[in-house]
Amino acid sequence: MSINFQKNGLIAHIKNSSISYILEVIDDKYLINRYFGKTIREYRETNSFQYFKRGYNTQHLSSIENLSFDDFPFEYPTRGHGDYRIPAISITQATGIDFIDLTFKEWRILNEKPKISGLPSTFSEEGETETLEIICEDISAGIRVYMYYSIFDNLGIIVRHQKIENFGKQKITINSAKSLSLELPAKDYDFLSLYGTHAKEANVSRFALHRGIQKIESARGASSPQHQPFFALVSPDTCEESGEVYGFHLIYSGSFSAEVEKDQFGNVRAQMGLNPDNFKWSLESGEIFETPEVVINYSNNGLNGMSQNFHKLYKSHLIPKKFMNQERPILLNSWESMYYDVTLDKIEQQSNIAQELGIELFVLDDGWFRLTNSSKTSMGDWKCNEKKLPGGINKVAEIIHKKGLKFGLWFEPEMISKASNLYSEHPEWALQIPNYPMVEGRNQYVLDLSRKDVQEYIINIFHDYLKDGQIEYIKWDMNRPLTEVNSLALDFGRKSEIWHRYILGLYYVLETITSTYPNVLFEGCSSGGARFDPGMLYYTPQIWTSDNTDAFDRTIIQSGYSLLYPPIAMGAHVSITPNHQTGRITSMNTRYQVARLFNLGYELDLSKCQDYEMKEIAEQIAESKRNRKFIQYGDFFRHDVPNDNYSMWSTVNSDKTEAIVIIFQKFYNPIKSHCLFKLNYLNSDFDYCEKNTGKIYGGDELMSVGLSIPLIKSDFHVFAFHFEKIS
Ligand code: DGJ
Repeated sequence: MSINFQKNGLIAHIKNSSISYILEVIDDKYLINRYFGKTIREYRETNSFQYFKRGYNTQHLSSIENLSFDDFPFEYPTRGHGDYRIPAISITQATGIDFIDLTFKEWRILNEKPKISGLPSTFSEEGETETLEIICEDISAGIRVYMYYSIFDNLGIIVRHQKIENFGKQKITINSAKSLSLELPAKDYDFLSLYGTHAKEANVSRFALHRGIQKIESARGASSPQHQPFFALVSPDTCEESGEVYGFHLIYSGSFSAEVEKDQFGNVRAQMGLNPDNFKWSLESGEIFETPEVVINYSNNGLNGMSQNFHKLYKSHLIPKKFMNQERPILLNSWESMYYDVTLDKIEQQSNIAQELGIELFVLDDGWFRLTNSSKTSMGDWKCNEKKLPGGINKVAEIIHKKGLKFGLWFEPEMISKASNLYSEHPEWALQIPNYPMVEGRNQYVLDLSRKDVQEYIINIFHDYLKDGQIEYIKWDMNRPLTEVNSLALDFGRKSEIWHRYILGLYYVLETITSTYPNVLFEGCSSGGARFDPGMLYYTPQIWTSDNTDAFDRTIIQSGYSLLYPPIAMGAHVSITPNHQTGRITSMNTRYQVARLFNLGYELDLSKCQDYEMKEIAEQIAESKRNRKFIQYGDFFRHDVPNDNYSMWSTVNSDKTEAIVIIFQKFYNPIKSHCLFKLNYLNSDFDYCEKNTGKIYGGDELMSVGLSIPLIKSDFHVFAFHFEKIS
């Protein structure tokens, strides 16, 4: 890893063994992007600009003939002086004029990775990153922009963010400040992103980039299941196992926008950051604003190469350090077995069976504080309903702990029910717009997390429950998007800041609680995957992937999220059949196989299981524990499959001596059955024993010839293999 300057300090080359990122200052003034992609040893300017004389455009630098900003690859573009493509930053000056002209001032190398105040971001130990700090400014507007690019040793990743300083005498207004703006050369790309809805998250969308702007966004106040704050630009022939990929992921949990413009000449500009529709920020003289961090990923090893980069980054440089090397407990969650109707008897019964089966953590989900068995009341009060649970949470914890299990509890801290004491006492604590109706979502309003008093209230609730150390796990849920997004406490001139201030408040609360109780395992959740993003992952090392627990749908949802997130971050539960969300019937084995390479849990009424099912579950749990370390810390791959009737995953350990391979057959389909499945992530020099059958295979044969599977007359069938190297 290194950052070098050349051409008298006018070119900066950021590189490691995988990638190069090259910037140049033109005419001592304008910062442009020269290259991002596969690493190059030394940059000798082979991609020199060709300036064409064209009509109906503007001419800029007198020093370079025919230079027009119309196709100039600005690193952080603004609008108003002849670059008509999407701008990265827009500011209204004290004069009321929407215009800035950023010119290069200086750059320097920092040996550490800077923190971003109030926002989650990647971190590193000494020597693991180098950072290029670039300062650009508009002297007459009194605006300075600091740009930070950190490169990690051995990862095809650069992370980037900006700091905007008002060094003028009067207030300015930031209308938009993207985290990413990247120029890519004119060629064909596919735009790939993850879209969805509640209980059907993380579907892959892929289409050929066309002229004009293509955009995805969330304007819901949460990153949302509708679009993950991610997109990739990939070569048209890129697949899981080969091809070029540029991937971008925003470390932020609120509204975002991500857009790509293919201009008149075919040049491509990719941008991502805070959604300008939900954002405006007043910056007083002397103040600084910082953008969220964006992860910029390059791989020429297909989508799996991109995923490996993201997985490694998040496992080692984003999730809380305490949980980086900690195996995650196998849990039993009460939701699908009890819903709101929680009782001590049920808890006693379920935890008894859980203990016999080898489950390690019992999670009491929603219902424990509700006055009725519905979502209609009590949100915000967080007082255990002792009619349901005599003795309160202490009693529940005691029952669970007596069985030798850990105890986890569900909260939805950002919400308030109309029917709650909290709302009677503090109606002003909810987000609301005076004189307009307040819209409920799942019978609840949203607390105004920008308020200090609300933040302290939530923090104190957690102190009350966590201070005695009787709760080892918290599920942090969030079940509705934001509406009437106004804070009664914010000054008139700052009203448009509320969307971002909500998220800053959320991060402050999470930071305070998770740093005070670092041993408590937090699981993020937002109706499943409605706020599954790297910002939340920074605080909650695992996230409930989806409210949809159906094994078939989960093959799609987990595959989608695995483009970005390591399996250890994704909750995957074996639930009842027919499935509560889809009505689909699948075997116990299929449900387990689809969950086992992820963060395994169970979510079903164990007392209703037949003896043979109990035996099966006990075996699953024993097997998972035996392989847990390798599964949770191994490398996860999706495979290209011969046809769409199959999905295939494998987890391989770092020295490729062990691999678990799962092939999921959607339907019994003899027409699509004669296929070979290549195990491309083994070592071709090794021989492997398949542990279930004792058969010996050569790594080279598995990789080049591929494995065939029998024709099984069953829908939703899983073939599972466990290969181990033989000496
Ligand atoms: C939504 C979550 O995703 C579920 O797992 C469950 O916790 C419910 N909320 C409880 O209200």
